[in-house]
Amino acid sequence: MGDEVDDGVRAYDLAAEDYAVHYPTTEPEQPADLDAVRSWAAGLAGPTGQAGITPRVLDAGCGTGRMARFVSDVAGGRVRIAGADPSAGMLAVARREHPWLPVHRAGLTALPLADETLDGVLAWYSTIHLTDAALPGALREVRRVLRPGGSVLLGFQSGAGTHEVGAAFRSLGHEVSLVRHHRTPEVMAAAAERAGLEVVAARARPAAGRERDPQAVVLGRRPEATPGGSDRGTPGAQS
Ligand SMILES: C[S@@+](CC[C@H](N)C(=O)[O-])C[C@H]1O[C@@H](n2cnc3c(N)ncnc32)[C@H](O)[C@@H]1O
Repeated sequence: MGDEVDDGVRAYDLAAEDYAVHYPTTEPEQPADLDAVRSWAAGLAGPTGQAGITPRVLDAGCGTGRMARFVSDVAGGRVRIAGADPSAGMLAVARREHPWLPVHRAGLTALPLADETLDGVLAWYSTIHLTDAALPGALREVRRVLRPGGSVLLGFQSGAGTHEVGAAFRSLGHEVSLVRHHRTPEVMAAAAERAGLEVVAARARPAAGRERDPQAVVLGRRPEATPGGSDRGTPGAQS
């Protein structure tokens, strides 16, 4: 897989069962975040009636599969969703808790999917473990697997810098370190644009409830192909 922070994957491997106990469904999400996912998922399911084709969606960094469950429920089952995650521990929980969900052991920079096969990608708090060096490749990979017009929803802690956040895991008895990379929506949006995605919305909100950091969402889409040419993306561009 190569793109993930190894310590991070190890941390999630060890803490997967605790994660599932603390967050069986959408406990950490504030209403505004759930609204963002709900509206994105409902939009994906929308065209089904017209084309008679079930939209294909990937939860990239699906962890235990709780948000894939949420997306599937919001869409009334009218999406075909799969998950991908580099942590074998998280995937083992996902397979047990959501046996209906197909999952791949893979990170964001090497998705095991053909070009232009997906209508939507959810990257919900999974880019947070990508270094700045790995992020551009991950966003290009998202663009590669999306069909023209397909969309990506990214959720992440807003801010800047690298934060060691292993304390929560260590308090549960797991001797690990875990690094998280905070980015403003503007920084993420600029990276998405450099990867050939159009940014539809990018916003942050203040921390709420038990959160310590502001939170952000970025909604992007792969541009529609233009007649006689490809879309305006620059998948080979370096950032
Ligand atoms: C905070 S959890 C979020 C999991 C899930 N999206 C959710 O909301 O419950 C972060 C997840 O990112 C995964 N992850 C770490 N490195 C990754 C990478 N390079 N690509 C995709 N996912 C990654 C971890 O294994 C973990 O499952």
